[in-house]
Amino acid sequence: MCGIVGIVGSEAVADRLVDALKRLEYRGYDSAGVATLVDGKLGRRRAEGKLVNLERRLAGEPLAGTIGIAHTRWATHGAPTENNAHPHFVDGIAIVHNGIIENFAEIKQELIAEGATFQTQTDTEVAGQLLARLIRDGMRPKEAMQAMLKRVTGAYALAVLFESLPDTIMAARNGPPLAIGHGNGEMYLGSDAIALAPFTNEITYLTDGDWAVLTRDGVAIFDGEGRVVSRPRTTSMAAAFRVDKGNHRHFMEKEIYEQPEVISHALSAYIDFIGNKVSPAATAIDFSGVPSLAISACGTAYLAGVIGKYWFERYARLPVEADVASEFRYRNIPLPKEAAAFFISQSGETADTLASLRYCREQGLTIGAVVNTRESTIARESDAIFPILAGPEIGVASTKAFTCQLTVLAAMAIGAGRMRGVLSEAEEQALVRHLAEMPRLMASVLRSVQPQMEGLARELSRCRDVLYLGRGTSYPLAMEGALKLKEISYIHAEGYAAGELKHGPIALIDENMPVIVIAPYDRFFEKTVSNMQEVAARGGKIVFITDEKGASACDLATLATIVLPSVDELIQPMIFSLPIQLLAYHTAVFMGTDVDQPRNLAKSVTVE
Ligand code: AGP
Repeated sequence: MCGIVGIVGSEAVADRLVDALKRLEYRGYDSAGVATLVDGKLGRRRAEGKLVNLERRLAGEPLAGTIGIAHTRWATHGAPTENNAHPHFVDGIAIVHNGIIENFAEIKQELIAEGATFQTQTDTEVAGQLLARLIRDGMRPKEAMQAMLKRVTGAYALAVLFESLPDTIMAARNGPPLAIGHGNGEMYLGSDAIALAPFTNEITYLTDGDWAVLTRDGVAIFDGEGRVVSRPRTTSMAAAFRVDKGNHRHFMEKEIYEQPEVISHALSAYIDFIGNKVSPAATAIDFSGVPSLAISACGTAYLAGVIGKYWFERYARLPVEADVASEFRYRNIPLPKEAAAFFISQSGETADTLASLRYCREQGLTIGAVVNTRESTIARESDAIFPILAGPEIGVASTKAFTCQLTVLAAMAIGAGRMRGVLSEAEEQALVRHLAEMPRLMASVLRSVQPQMEGLARELSRCRDVLYLGRGTSYPLAMEGALKLKEISYIHAEGYAAGELKHGPIALIDENMPVIVIAPYDRFFEKTVSNMQEVAARGGKIVFITDEKGASACDLATLATIVLPSVDELIQPMIFSLPIQLLAYHTAVFMGTDVDQPRNLAKSVTVE
């Protein structure tokens, strides 16, 4: 998604704005630009592609000025060209935008009919042209800003400079997040606190419908009717997190190897290691009287939710409805108001997930947010927040957030089982002990399987299609393995329930279609081995991901057999995630793709 930054400062801003944009690169983008205001005149530099191109442009043609706005664009309306890059200029106005202005076409027609000429295909320019028209009609900038915001519809975050207001940035938020940073004689604006971390950790988040006027002395925040509102000023954690790759080639590799450490952070928040039981944090929602649970999310977060579904059903005997948020939000599902609903989101800003949350809140359900960003919109709109404590996840492909989500969901399912009186204290203690083993086991698995996965990735990088199979919680894990591979290597991959093989996918099997089988030695093992025999009989190449017991119980010829430690069924998804993450990562490295920022993808999809 796009990134926005702004500074109304006392020193030169152009380079600092670009540095702040670099901290938003993880959101995904295809062009960038910066505008500053000097002596009542706007100046601008823009470039296609990566920020290094904008830096080159600025090195050749520096921009002066102590007030400016900047933007990384993820194209929605109009090709990713320099001309379509933000900031857009209209009659002494500079504007940057994240999101989608849904009624842009209707407004554009109106403005063209009044004689406006447009330079770009973007919906953003429409907002700028509308502002210009309102000012031509005699409004002052602040009135025009309020009138424009009343007219446009959609999900947007905006920042605007006016040549007639040399010391002011105006901003608005309706959907995608926008943070105000408080400095000393300077004020800042950013799509999140990570962008502002080098300047300040004193942050005020705008809420939907807010707009703001920033000057060096501070910020005035208004609601849609122009009434002054106040929003809490918080100290952000973002500054505490180092956002760099350490000694890894990519953020994704670093985040894969961070898992033992961050899982231990998550465990320490949700497990009482002394009492060998889940902590109160895991039981922030009282499940004793809850008739059912709804789980909704997108992408990898959704697949974590599906695994969580298996656990709540098994350990808490709770009926669970899990669906991707883009479907859930429109199904108008009849849910009892005594039910609970969980929304899982690394960014806490995913539009479809937020919309599903709002549907459930309207139905009167108790809302839980399993998020990595405690200061996010999804977190703020929930009754109970379950932070996953994974630290900033910069790589677009989610890895450590996935296993931390699973860790938190596992602790919650155990806690729910105890509250509902269907899980004994002894069972809880045994399950908690298994969870507590994860950091050690993950560190050992990462060391042991790394060379094998790198070698196998070379083989996989030559394939066009890959099939992943699994049963039980290994089935959503098979879908996650396929998602990891396709989103960073661009190889087509599908995850399937192994039991579905004969209902269609077996038609695909031949020597060109590697089949990754995720099969720990569990209650489904024998059935999955039968599926493997069906694949082998048709010349399919099998990658067998199993454990010591599984490896000794099956001597089928395979392309590769990856042997993991034999672990309790509860923690198999976390442990078996590691080889599938490493396989996708190394395959992408062989393919030479942009591992941390794969094409067309964004880290947080804040529009539907
Ligand atoms: C995961 O690797 C993908 N990047 C994507 O599916 C992601 O999980 C999805 O967009 C949800 O994002 P969220 O967790 O921030 O809501």
